[in-house]
Amino acid sequence: MSASVEFRRTTVPEIRARKGGTPIVCLTCYHAHTARLLDKYVDLLLVGDSLGMVMHGMETTLGVTLDMMILHAKAVMRGASRALVVVDMPFGSYEESPEIAFRNAARVMQETGCTAVKVEGGARTAATIKYLTERGIPVMAHIGLTPQMVQITGGFKTKGRDPSEWPALEEDAKAIADAGAFAVVLEGMAEPLASRITHSIPIPTIGIGASPECDGQILVMEDMLGLNPKPPRFVREYAHLGGEIEEAVKAYAADVKSRAFPGRENIYPMKKGSSGG
Ligand code: KIV
Repeated sequence: MSASVEFRRTTVPEIRARKGGTPIVCLTCYHAHTARLLDKYVDLLLVGDSLGMVMHGMETTLGVTLDMMILHAKAVMRGASRALVVVDMPFGSYEESPEIAFRNAARVMQETGCTAVKVEGGARTAATIKYLTERGIPVMAHIGLTPQMVQITGGFKTKGRDPSEWPALEEDAKAIADAGAFAVVLEGMAEPLASRITHSIPIPTIGIGASPECDGQILVMEDMLGLNPKPPRFVREYAHLGGEIEEAVKAYAADVKSRAFPGRENIYPMKKGSSGG
């Protein structure tokens, strides 16, 4: 290539280099307006498959399709110009073989312009992570509570609270780091284990219900804004938009019924000098 290319978005090596440094700020995001608002303050936006539950009211993430991920990722890419955008590979799009995972992940990158994808699973996903990264697809891994396994585990269950679970989870972390993942989400994991993993692998850990020691933190945006009526324990609500939206809609309904809305400032008068028909 003759011309040099300037990346204006945060890059994978920049995120990777934050290991042990200033914590990496991450949030999920599913649409353009919010992407534009978050872009100034976050390093990484995840178009997570949690959008199936948050945006579409599904009970689990299992019904989310590649087309749904691509649709929302395109919207986020239009809104954000600075943050690194990672897109979740949905259930059924990467588990069968590394080749199928490559084809689907390449489609996600080509159609959305995102920088990286995320896959769930530790040691069992390592071969796929290696295959993708060796072929130009940066991968963020996701271990601990992995929502796509919910039908096997029988619920969204925290991992590592019993020390007998530690060796397998530590092996997962090592396997995905060795395979070339540039970062890993640690979800729903006992704090001492999340801290131990963070200090034992060379790639950034991004915690959600994990540990303040992680190299970064992520939350589902709607949870931290107070839109989830039953947020998990690990959520801190920075706003209470659920209540505010309800109050706003209540006021609007009252104004419509009393004809207080629309007001003079909300209607279009005729041009000066013309009379209405
Ligand atoms: O889909 C999602 O929102 C996620 C986060 C919980 C990390 O994977």
